[in-house]
This record gives sequence, structure tokens and C-alpha cells, in this order.
Amino acid sequence: MFGATILVAGCGNSGDSAHIATPATTPAVSDQTDDAPAPAPGTQPRVTILATGGTIAGKANDNSAVGYTAGEASAQDLIDAVPGLDKIATLHAEQIANIGSQDMNDEVWLKLADRINQLFTDNAADGVVITHGTDTIEETAFFLDHVVASDKPVVLVGSMRPSTALSADGPANLRSAVQVAAARDARNRGALVVLNDTIHTARDVTKTNTTSVQTFVSPNAGPEGFVDAAAVRFTKPAARQARAHFQVPGSAPMPRVDIVYSHAGMNADQVHDAIGHGAKGIVLAGVGDGNTSEEVVDALSDAAHHGVVVVRSSRVGSGTTVRNAEVNDDQLGTVSALDLNPAKARVLTQLLLVNNITDAGQVQQQFAAR
Ligand code: DGL
Repeated sequence: MFGATILVAGCGNSGDSAHIATPATTPAVSDQTDDAPAPAPGTQPRVTILATGGTIAGKANDNSAVGYTAGEASAQDLIDAVPGLDKIATLHAEQIANIGSQDMNDEVWLKLADRINQLFTDNAADGVVITHGTDTIEETAFFLDHVVASDKPVVLVGSMRPSTALSADGPANLRSAVQVAAARDARNRGALVVLNDTIHTARDVTKTNTTSVQTFVSPNAGPEGFVDAAAVRFTKPAARQARAHFQVPGSAPMPRVDIVYSHAGMNADQVHDAIGHGAKGIVLAGVGDGNTSEEVVDALSDAAHHGVVVVRSSRVGSGTTVRNAEVNDDQLGTVSALDLNPAKARVLTQLLLVNNITDAGQVQQQFAAR
């Protein structure tokens, strides 16, 4: 079903790979990233741009004053729209896909992950920029944050206005992203998302507004840094040691994990539908501190006790879903997503399922460690 994948543990931010659960079926393989050193000062960094589509590549269409079609411009078109980009880095562009990111999928994720790892293994790039739609950019970033086996910069960038719009934000965002990918201090920060002069980590960033250019925030941790025409300024230190990561899953799709959205008056139909459609994991986008109706709590606990990985997150948008606070996870066999939103909790649950990590205690350990 899935190619053999191994949980690959670097030292992790805590400096202790012991926190990495060892799946029963495959040994954890310690792997220090053997990245080439950063380019010597004065030599131009090499940045590869991998294009996937999105509004940054969008062009206005005729059927509406505000409508546009995502994913129409090529990677080279995007580069050509930014004068002087080649003064920041030696650029190479590849088209991985050309889709709106509402259609992003596991196949494109695996293609991106394999290409990035190959570029870094071959020392063919000092950094990678991915142009991407903003709707699911945080999910792609979070996935890559966990499967790229390098501490070199991986920077995702999008735009809120199409390339043909008045005051299009794409060109400036792309310039900022290349600046970050070329920056020496961008290493060992995992995947980053750059828009609107602001740098966010994959773990913390989320989209908070449907249309505004300042839509991306990091509600729990704040931005990682800022970019302007003169400089890239990180406001936090980079991780000291290699980051733990998973090997890229051997094939797509990854195991099915459904998100059920809690609301007043909720019955357990969404839970039963998820299980009926073969979900191996369920993430609750709970009300408040990851809570839901009694009927749904009972259905989730029953699922957990029948081998489904059940993770409680919250629809609230910031804060931490506290384990055993309003909901007794120990008794129910459920896991708290801690500060991960439902969409990112789903991605991590998929990766854990691929690595045969399904025991609630081990799953919770992974949520706490990553
Ligand atoms: N279709 C949406 C996407 O590709 C547009 C949002 C955007 O890219 O800004 O994510």
C-alpha cells in the first residue's frame, strides 16, 4: 500500500532524538542532514523556483471584474515580472504543477518533496522557493517541513491578487521569497511562508482573511522575521540542530484522515460518514478548547477504541487545545493537537499513519515533539 517509509530522526530541536517514537515495524534511522556549507560570502546563492500555480500565477478573466483564473502564468513569467531578481540569486525555474491550491493534492506534495530533496542531495541549489496558491499554502508548507531532509531554506510564496490586478502583490512577494531563500540565516528554520514583507514558520502560519494582503499571521508565536528591499531580518534564532523529519511517503494518496467540524446541535453523522468512507484518522475541529457534543464525544471515543487515530483540535484559530482539560483524553483514547490547527493536525496524523505510529500515547508524543 505504501512504500516502506522510515521515521528519520535528526537531533530535533530538543536535541534529543529519544523523543522520537520508534514505530514497531520500522526502526528510527538517525540522520544528520549532510548539507553542503552555505555559499561563501560574496558568491551568489543558487535558488530554484518550483511553480505550482495559484493566484500569484493568476490572470484576470473576462467574466467578472474581480474574478481571475489561478495558475495561468508560468514560472518564467513570474520571474520576468520581477526586475533585478537575478541580482539576488542565480535562478533556475521548474513547473511542478499549475493549479489553484484548493486542488492541491498528495501527488503534487510527493513530487515537490522528492524534487526538493533531490536538489539538496545533489547540491544543485542553496535554497528553494515554491510559488503556490494561498488557500492551502500552510498545509503544503507543514507537510514539506516534515519531509525535507535538509536544513537549507524552503520558502513558499503566494499572492492575494492576480498578476494582472491593480497593485498586484505577487512580484514583491516573489522578490521577498527569493531574498529569504538566498539568506544565510534562513537555514535550519524548516519550511517558511513569505508574503506581505513577513516571514512565518510552517508550524505557526495560518490564513486569517479571505481577501486582504495581510491575511497571513502566526497567532501563537508571531512572525519569524521580516523582509524589505534592503534586508532579511529574522527576529528569532534558528534551531541549533538538525530537525527530525520523516522520509517522503512512498506513494499517494496517504491514509485518509477526515476533519469533522463541530457546531451547536451537532450529531455524530460526520464521524460515522468518515469511518464509513475508510478514514484511518479523524481530526475534530472542535468548539472552544477542542470540545463537541456528548454524542460526538462518544462516537469519537468508540472510533479511537476501534483503531482510528482521533485528534482533537479547535476551530477557534489560536491557542492550544489542552490535553485532559475539558475532555478526558486519557479515558477516551484521544490525542490533543496542542497548538496545531485542524488542517495541520490532519497532515501530521497522515504522516504518523504512514509510519505505522497509531498508538495514542505515541501519537501524542509526536504532536508534542514536532
Ligand atoms: N484559488 C486560490 C488558490 O490558488 C486563490 C488564492 C490565492 O492563491 O491567493 O489558493
